[in-house]
Amino acid sequence: MSLPFLRSAVVQLAAYTPHVESADDPSPAALDILDTNECPYDLPEALQEKLAWQLQHNIAANRYPDGGHGALKEAIAQYVTESTAGAAFSADHISVGNGSDELIRSLLIATCLGGAGSVLVADPTFSMYGILARTLGIPVVTVGRSEDTFAVDTAAAQQAIARPQGTPVRVVFMVHPNSPTGNALTATEIAWLESLPPDILVVIDEAYFEFSQQTTTANVLTRPNWVVMRTFSKAFRLAAYRVGYAVANPELTQALEKVRLPYNLPSLTQAAAQLALAHRQELLAVVSEIQQQRRELASAIAQTTPLRLWPSDANFLYGRPPAQSGQPINAELERWFNRLRVQGTLVRHTGGGLRITIGTPAENRRTLAHLQQV
Ligand SMILES: Cc1ncc(COP(=O)(O)O)c(C=O)c1O
Repeated sequence: MSLPFLRSAVVQLAAYTPHVESADDPSPAALDILDTNECPYDLPEALQEKLAWQLQHNIAANRYPDGGHGALKEAIAQYVTESTAGAAFSADHISVGNGSDELIRSLLIATCLGGAGSVLVADPTFSMYGILARTLGIPVVTVGRSEDTFAVDTAAAQQAIARPQGTPVRVVFMVHPNSPTGNALTATEIAWLESLPPDILVVIDEAYFEFSQQTTTANVLTRPNWVVMRTFSKAFRLAAYRVGYAVANPELTQALEKVRLPYNLPSLTQAAAQLALAHRQELLAVVSEIQQQRRELASAIAQTTPLRLWPSDANFLYGRPPAQSGQPINAELERWFNRLRVQGTLVRHTGGGLRITIGTPAENRRTLAHLQQV
């Protein structure tokens, strides 16, 4: 069936499908879900109970949520101030989204829609920038990365910006540390981003900040073209609730507020994010365990399997299997992915490699054993 009223860009796009089910999958209980970089631990029971109490006593189902997110923005500004040496942020610097995915879309609408600009990304990287841009008819300019370190090819990026082939670049999206490759931006890459002219928006996606402890938020206070995005879906354990935030100069956050949906965050979601921030010491206490598990798993994989791993500053590892003679690398990758999956370890097959989320110690032991079996 064809629907002639649909835009061709939408018809041609494949929908984003996180876990595609397969007939060969073990039962869901026997599958370790290590493909979406979540925290392996749910909220502690006491916090779940507090949230359930809020739902029963503080949230009226017939009333719209707080559409201005006032209390949540205050709490986020406080947290961002704590995590940025020598800088102070207020609620005006914060805009909140239904996941950082929504913020990516708002940024695209505010900057590039209607032929106003294209976006630049360095592949491999988080796929949603390209997917959301294409749904809006926004061109995506892609540059490469070093095969050794995954550092961005800044010469190619500079060239794409200085001599655009089509619509000029308006926005550069960088993940710090990058997904799927795990590398944080280097001082050289940050210096290049800082050198970009004020008519180009620099978006630094710090979704994995709590694991890397590296941030560029201080730049927001001196650079009107700098925005940092973060999420509650990873270290804060709230992927199910959908909360992300942008830290930017107040003029830019105002623009984001104009283009978002009026009640983009349900009341329970706002309550969950505020509760998580109020108990951040307890929730973020597992970050050091996950970092330690990452180091141990990386070293065991390197010693006992042929997978080539890269250093990671995030809560996942990125690796590529060795090429087999006569086998295209993609077929070999597919084989590793499928062999892991039938044994019960679901990882992400992306960007020409395998991205493996760090799970609980028991899950990580199984990941290692399953990799050794491949
Ligand atoms: C780099 C990066 N940015 C953003 C997101 C999306 O986060 P959210 O759940 O807040 O939409 C992810 C999720 O995997 C991610 O890896």
